[in-house]
Amino acid sequence: METTKAVYQMIEGELTRQLFAEATDLVYIFDTQGNILFVNRQFEHLTGSGQEVFYGKPFGSLFGEAHLDTAWNNYAKTLQGETQQCELCFKNTETLYEHKTFPLRDDKKNIIGVMGIARDITARKQREEGLVSLHVFIEKCMVEHAEKLRAVNEELVEEMNCRLRLENELKQTVEKHQKSMNGLVQTMALAIESNDNYAAGHQARVAQLTRHVAGEMRLSKDRIDKLGMAAAIHDIGKASVPARVFNKTEPLTEREFAMLRSHARTGHDIVQQIGLPYPVAAIILQHHERINGTGYPLKLTGKDILLEAKILAVSDVVEAMSFPRPYRQHAGLESALVEISQNSGILYDFNVVHACLAIFNEQGFRFEQEPQANMRLFEDVLVKV
Ligand SMILES: [Fe+2]
Ligand SMILES: [Fe+2]
Repeated sequence: METTKAVYQMIEGELTRQLFAEATDLVYIFDTQGNILFVNRQFEHLTGSGQEVFYGKPFGSLFGEAHLDTAWNNYAKTLQGETQQCELCFKNTETLYEHKTFPLRDDKKNIIGVMGIARDITARKQREEGLVSLHVFIEKCMVEHAEKLRAVNEELVEEMNCRLRLENELKQTVEKHQKSMNGLVQTMALAIESNDNYAAGHQARVAQLTRHVAGEMRLSKDRIDKLGMAAAIHDIGKASVPARVFNKTEPLTEREFAMLRSHARTGHDIVQQIGLPYPVAAIILQHHERINGTGYPLKLTGKDILLEAKILAVSDVVEAMSFPRPYRQHAGLESALVEISQNSGILYDFNVVHACLAIFNEQGFRFEQEPQANMRLFEDVLVKV
């Protein structure tokens, strides 16, 4: 009874009464026997009963069955001097309250009861649950997204492997095609040279020189390869010229000249039929054109002649003059270089001549194949035509 009195004395002050009355939180005080000593006016709003109805009843009567253990535990620990915090629902309501309880002490610091403040945390809980739901939703989305990404990634890897396989197969096919094409060109070159001893080694030497000049002029590897291919068979059209024309010792007639000159177009037609890559056939067609329009078969001028054909033309002349030809002494390399120098910009492309002179005079270029000692001395058809 004394403690009860002491508690009432504590809360009967005007200031305390007002504080409890105006507080938006629920305030309660239990005595050390577990009975309710005080509840503030907020309980009236919660339960619809007057404050006095609660006084003297066990504090457990405030809480629902499900929360009784927690409430008792909280109460017992607070009585031992500990400040407690827990979440509890009052009886007949699902509103969740955060309870903070602390021991109530008299002047001598003796514990004379338990005071509690309860705050409605429904809104906060809803926000927290909302955040948890959002977090769960985001996590789920991320997992789904990651799975989709993994699937896309696997598809990409598969596609990349497939593309690599195809690229590899294509590369092998191209290499095989390239090999068979090179073989074909070599066979064609041998075929014409076996038919015409004059041409023996000529095309190979011209091909060697064209590749060097083209390299000096910084042409791409692909262009150099195709130019080399064209040079290796540039006189293939001569296969269609009768042997008697080559063997003739008397001056050639106009008709015979025309037959010889036809080798450029015939060579072009043969190569085109075979399907060698562009511009091999065009280079062969133009290898006797001159930049001032005095060449054949089309009398093209410089701007219409392929650079590759201009390189082949210069290399062809240099080789032809450097090696022995039937029925006359060969002019020699020096004369050949004088010939292209003098006609640079007239018959021959200036830049091509410049590059050709550079590789002979500055880089010491020499033909790999020497003239064959047993070569038949035929009419120098190249110089004639
Ligand atoms: Fe020719
Ligand atoms: Fe030639």
